[in-house]
Amino acid sequence: MTDSTAKIFIDTHRTIADISPLLFGGFVEHMGRCVYEGIYDPASPLADANGLRTDVMEALREQKYSVMRYPGGNFLSGYNWLDGVGPKADRPRRRELAWQSIETNQFGTNEFIDFCKAINTKPMLAVNMGTGTIESAGNLVEYCNAPTGSYWADLRASHGYRDPHAVEYWCVGNEMDGPWQIGHLEAEAYGLKALEAAKMMKWQDPSIKTVLCGSSNDRMPTYPEWDRVALEIAWEKVDYHSIHYYAQNQEDDTASYLALPIDLENYVDTVAATLRYAKAKRRSKHDVYLSWDEWQVWYKDRSGRGNWTEAPHLSEEIYNLEDALLVAQWLNVFLRKSDVLKVACVAQVVNIISWLHTRKDGLLKQVSFYSFQLMSNMAKGKALDLLVQSPRHATQRYGDVPHLDVSASYDEASGSQALFVVNRSQTETVHTELVWQGGAPQRVQETWQLAGNDPKAANSWEQPNLLTAKKIANPSVQDGKIALSLPPLSFTAISLA
Ligand code: AHR
Repeated sequence: MTDSTAKIFIDTHRTIADISPLLFGGFVEHMGRCVYEGIYDPASPLADANGLRTDVMEALREQKYSVMRYPGGNFLSGYNWLDGVGPKADRPRRRELAWQSIETNQFGTNEFIDFCKAINTKPMLAVNMGTGTIESAGNLVEYCNAPTGSYWADLRASHGYRDPHAVEYWCVGNEMDGPWQIGHLEAEAYGLKALEAAKMMKWQDPSIKTVLCGSSNDRMPTYPEWDRVALEIAWEKVDYHSIHYYAQNQEDDTASYLALPIDLENYVDTVAATLRYAKAKRRSKHDVYLSWDEWQVWYKDRSGRGNWTEAPHLSEEIYNLEDALLVAQWLNVFLRKSDVLKVACVAQVVNIISWLHTRKDGLLKQVSFYSFQLMSNMAKGKALDLLVQSPRHATQRYGDVPHLDVSASYDEASGSQALFVVNRSQTETVHTELVWQGGAPQRVQETWQLAGNDPKAANSWEQPNLLTAKKIANPSVQDGKIALSLPPLSFTAISLA
C-alpha cells in the first residue's frame, strides 16, 4: 500500500444543471421473486394487511425512491393489464413467456399504486408494445387517470378506486429493439407504433409524460441508428428516451471494471448527441431528455427460465465491494450528466438483480444498497462542475485512469453541499485536499464511508453487516479547505453547510 495526493476544486457558482429527483428511481418487474416473495408476500409473517412486505417497504423508504417503473421489462411485452385488475379470485393464471414462469396475477396495477403510496414514490407505468395494441395503451391511461363517467374509468371505480391514480410517467413499450422481446419491431415500425400509442395516451390525458424505447445497450448492432430512427418519427409525442445498461466483470479485471464510467459517459454522450440531431432535423422546439430506466450490475447469475413455476429464484445476484463502488460511480455519472439525464431506475429493487434479498422472515441488505442510499438521501439541488487533479493508475481496457471519481451537489435554498468520492485505486490511500474557489462551507455536517480491502467481499445471511456505510469523524474546514484521507477501494460521502 502506498500514498498519493489529489486536489478537488469546488465552486458553487460552477453548476451543471438541476439534479432531477427522478434520478433515484427503481424498477419492479414481474420476474422471479421481485413482486411475489419480494414486495408482495401475504404468506410472510412480515406482510401487512394488504400482503405487502413491511421490512422491504422500510428498506425502500430508507433508499428514498422517487419513482418506480412497473410492470416490466420483458414481461411487459406479453402482458394484458386487464389480467391484473378486478377481484383476485377471477384473475387468470397464465404462462408467462418472457421468463417461462407462471403468473398468478394476484398483484396488478391497483396493488402497485397502493404500494407506491405506501413508500411515497411516484408510479411510472408501461404500456405493452409487443402483443399490445395502441388501443389497449390508451385504455390503460383512461383506466388509471380519467375521472369516472366513462367505461374504463368506471371499471376502475368498480374495482374500488374511485379517484384517478394520476400516473404521470408512461413508458411506451420495453426494449423493442431486442430480438428477444415478445413482438420485437424494427426501428421504423416501432417509431410509428409508439407515435400512435403516445398520441392516444396523451389524448386521454394531456398532462402525462411518455418515454420512448431506445437501444437496449451500446453493444446492440442497431445502436445508435435505432435511436435516431425512432426518435425522428415519434419526437413530438415523447418526453424522454430510454437507455438501459447492465455492467459486467466477466474477465475478473477489477481495475478495468472500476473504470467502466468512461463507457457509461460515452453512452450518454452519444445518445444525447442523437437527441440533438433529431431535434434539429425535426426543426422542433420540443425537448426530449434521457431516462436510464434500467441499470445495475448483472453477470454472476443470469438465470431467466422459471420452468413454469411461480416466483422462481432467478438472477438473484450477489453484490460485492467492487460492485458497490461501481454503483457509487454510476450515480456520480448521473450527477455529472444531469443536464440531459432526468430519470433513472435501478433494475430491480428486490431479489431480482437486486441489493435486497428476502427470506420468508428476513431481509438481507447487500453492500451496494448503501451506495444508493447515501446518494439518494444526500444529493440535492444542482450538480457542480468540479476540477479534479488526481493521481492515475493503469487499466487494461482504458489505459491510465484517475484514482478518484467524483461528483458534488449544491442546494441553494438550504445552503448545503454534498461531495461523493470513489477512490478506485486498489493500493493507494489518496490524501485529498478539497479547495473551494467560491461558496466555501462553514462546517462539515456528516461524513460517511464504505471501504474494505477485498473487492470481492460481500454481505451474506451469515454475515449481513460485513460491509456497511459507516459514519466517520468529520474533517474540519480551514481557510476554505478540507483535508481528507481516502483509503483504497472506498466511497466517501460528505455533507457540508
Ligand atoms: O431487468 C431484467 C430484464 O433486463 C428486463 O426485463 C429487460 O428489459 C432487460 O433486458
